[in-house]
Amino acid sequence: MKRALISDVHANLEALTAVLADIRSQDIREIFCLGDIVGYGPNPCECLDEVMRLSQVTILGNHDQATLFDPDGFNPVALQAVYWTREQLESANGSPLQINKRWDYLGELPRTHTEGDYLFVHGSPREPTNEYVFPEDVYNQRKMDALFSRVEKYCFQGHTHIPGVFTVDREFLTPEDIDYRYRLGDEPVMVNVGSVGQPRDNDPRCCYVVIEDSVLTYRRVDYDVDKTAQKIYDIPDLDNMLGDRLRSGR
Ligand SMILES: [Fe+2]
Repeated sequence: MKRALISDVHANLEALTAVLADIRSQDIREIFCLGDIVGYGPNPCECLDEVMRLSQVTILGNHDQATLFDPDGFNPVALQAVYWTREQLESANGSPLQINKRWDYLGELPRTHTEGDYLFVHGSPREPTNEYVFPEDVYNQRKMDALFSRVEKYCFQGHTHIPGVFTVDREFLTPEDIDYRYRLGDEPVMVNVGSVGQPRDNDPRCCYVVIEDSVLTYRRVDYDVDKTAQKIYDIPDLDNMLGDRLRSGR
């Protein structure tokens, strides 16, 4: 069975639409979303509606959490985007029923999901919502040991927006390093599936993972970056740098 793993949509409807079309073109019916549906981007309600409709399992991201509760540890640009997102969810687009449905959905998202050997989180196996696992963390043996001690076999995550595979030998393999494919074996791994709506690995294309019979494939998908960036520029509460960064994928 094929399954698509998406993460960090960040209210980027053009990116999400392009990824969903790519998923459909491969006849994939199962989608898991690893959090941060909203935050930063201009279309939180629309993205939330699509994820609610199509994702079988969705994990709570730190931006989803910040929209619900008092945000903690956010920089001023991210914070302003959180408040704007909250306003949109409270007032815009849809009947009172739909508005309540969105809030209920966000409020009920789990922090982890386990399925046999597979663990799904937003951040890390140690701190599922908030901890970042960056590529350079492979040089921090203590951190990597602590993280892998919590991974039964395979952990899938997002949060950094930097796709790649962390091996138990403390290597970080970028999608290019592995020619976009990786076979899950006996050794535990942590897999960052990348970001749909705000990639930060200097490749502005959307990123997600398809998993089929223990083989992961990284997919990169073009979308109308200029259109999303322009929407951001047109919304005063969303800092222009949030549009600029989409163009460069950083
Ligand atoms: Fe994120």
